[in-house]
Amino acid sequence: DKLHHLLRAMPKAELHIHIEGSLEPELIFALAQRNGVSLSYPSVEALRAAYAFTDLQSFLDIYYAGASVLLKAQDFEDMAMAYFRRARADNVVHAELFFDPQTHTARGVSFETVITGLTHACARAQAELGISSSLIMCFLRHLSEEEAFATLEEAMPFRSQIVGVGLDSSERGHPPEKFARVFAKCRELGLHLVAHAGEEGPPAYVWSALDVLKVERIDHGVRSVEDPVLMQRLARERVPLTVCPLSNVKLCVFKTMSEHNLATLLDQGLAATVNSDDPAYFGGYMNDNFVATFDALPQLTARHAYQLAANSFEASFVDAAAKSAWK
Ligand code: HPA
Ligand code: ZN
Repeated sequence: DKLHHLLRAMPKAELHIHIEGSLEPELIFALAQRNGVSLSYPSVEALRAAYAFTDLQSFLDIYYAGASVLLKAQDFEDMAMAYFRRARADNVVHAELFFDPQTHTARGVSFETVITGLTHACARAQAELGISSSLIMCFLRHLSEEEAFATLEEAMPFRSQIVGVGLDSSERGHPPEKFARVFAKCRELGLHLVAHAGEEGPPAYVWSALDVLKVERIDHGVRSVEDPVLMQRLARERVPLTVCPLSNVKLCVFKTMSEHNLATLLDQGLAATVNSDDPAYFGGYMNDNFVATFDALPQLTARHAYQLAANSFEASFVDAAAKSAWK
């Protein structure tokens, strides 16, 4: 119908996509074969059948295992190009891609290999598909501050290829404060700052992401609704929340999509956006997320759809001149 058509056809930006989470089972098997990597699942079907998650950690274990097939720059380029083609089909015109260098450097794949493949894909996305993009390097929060600093050091020769830094992986027990000094250093370097907070963790983690890390956007942030004072602040300062509805249901943050709080976030004036997080694992890309959410939440209207698209551009790290060219 009309609303579905609007959701699919409207231009949009994606701001919360872990590129390793776009690796479809078919590509995992193809890369395993190409690279001579052995997998602990006998088939594409068996791997996909293992995608039944109970919480964030149950997903992360299988997500890190899937990334083990990525060895060469070409693998990273192929993975990102497959994502960009899906994004193009969903009328995504701008994407900010998270990547997890530590998942790869821990396996002996160099930072240079990772960034070279991803940078090539970003250039091809512009040339072949008309999608602008940038890269956000995430620190794994279950690892130490020292390891994060070492990763930042490795990234320095490629500083110009990174628009910002983020914080992902296991949230509970790893509060933002653990990375206060790393983020202070990144801020001095002029990097944009974001962090996952309030996905499984409490509203206190959203407060400390804002006040200690000084992030510009909160990734997820859906548990902010438990704290009315926090909600007022997020609304007043128009702090963007990169919400990922299918992810939230798959990881049991909400039992069903009809319990999702996206409509509440928007109606309280927050700059919420819709994103896919790890589309190969959570059952869908951008338009699947929009359609599933609007189908489950009848209070969401065309006005909310326009607002979500506008929020995605407002919240992006595209410079002001390019943003005004979009309008
Ligand atoms: N949360 C935390 N870490 C992640 C996620 C997520 O949703 N996806 C990939 N790494
Ligand atoms: Zn995420």
